[in-house]
Amino acid sequence: MTESLPQEFETALRRTADRRGVFGESLYYFSEVASTNDEAARLAEAGADEGTTVVASAQTAGRGRLGRTWFSPPGAGLYVSVIVRDRRAAPLLTLAGGVAVAEAIRGATGLPVEIKWPNDIVVDAGLGRRRKLAGILAEASSGTEGLLYVILGFGINLLPVAYPPDIATRATSLAGELGRSVDAGPVLAECLAALAERVHDLASGHRRRVVGRWAELSPSARGARVQFEAGSGSITGVTAGIAEDGALLVRAGARVEAVRSGQVRWL
Ligand code: BTN
Repeated sequence: MTESLPQEFETALRRTADRRGVFGESLYYFSEVASTNDEAARLAEAGADEGTTVVASAQTAGRGRLGRTWFSPPGAGLYVSVIVRDRRAAPLLTLAGGVAVAEAIRGATGLPVEIKWPNDIVVDAGLGRRRKLAGILAEASSGTEGLLYVILGFGINLLPVAYPPDIATRATSLAGELGRSVDAGPVLAECLAALAERVHDLASGHRRRVVGRWAELSPSARGARVQFEAGSGSITGVTAGIAEDGALLVRAGARVEAVRSGQVRWL
């Protein structure tokens, strides 16, 4: 059963209504859910429109990329999933999501977050180290006639908590970085407004705007040493930007490799 939206969300959403288009127009709030991506997929299967949004204060089975768990304790984060049906937006939706969440956090809080390929939202912790405070998970569903919808889910750590040992040294939160508490309402509302803008860019043929902004927000996509697995074994190289399709380019000796999926180790 969906619940009534907390006042802090209500107010912030009202203030951004003219910039959000259909994003968040229909919004379902839960104090706890297994995964907002699953709830949004259920709604999409039942015919919910583009922009329909699911927000939860806690997840009991939050998912991350590459089969990982997304730690989602009550009240410590913002857990959000949005239905996107526009096929023109699908190929670069993960990058667009990263740009939208990074710009929204910057706009709502002033924290100069960056993106780490493909879609980690991080803060620069100095000496080439970065701490992650948000992540994006896009899950597509297709039928015989092609793409039906994509669920774009994002999780943003709001408060510092006791993170599980495997992520404790690499995770951070908005309040932890800013040294003050942060209202979740404006962060959510700005994310939806920024997502509306970036999905519109993709749908109207302005892919370069999204890719260009992504590159500006991602200094580590150029000149950072990385290692990744290829068919031929493990390759070490230096990041050299991203391709038009969102692949991370890595210079390794005389070759430039395009990394499209899997895990990249930042050295
Ligand atoms: C990652 O960086 O690995 C992606 C994390 C995505 C987490 C969000 S939280 C809201 C939505 N529901 C989920 O189960 N996952 C995404």
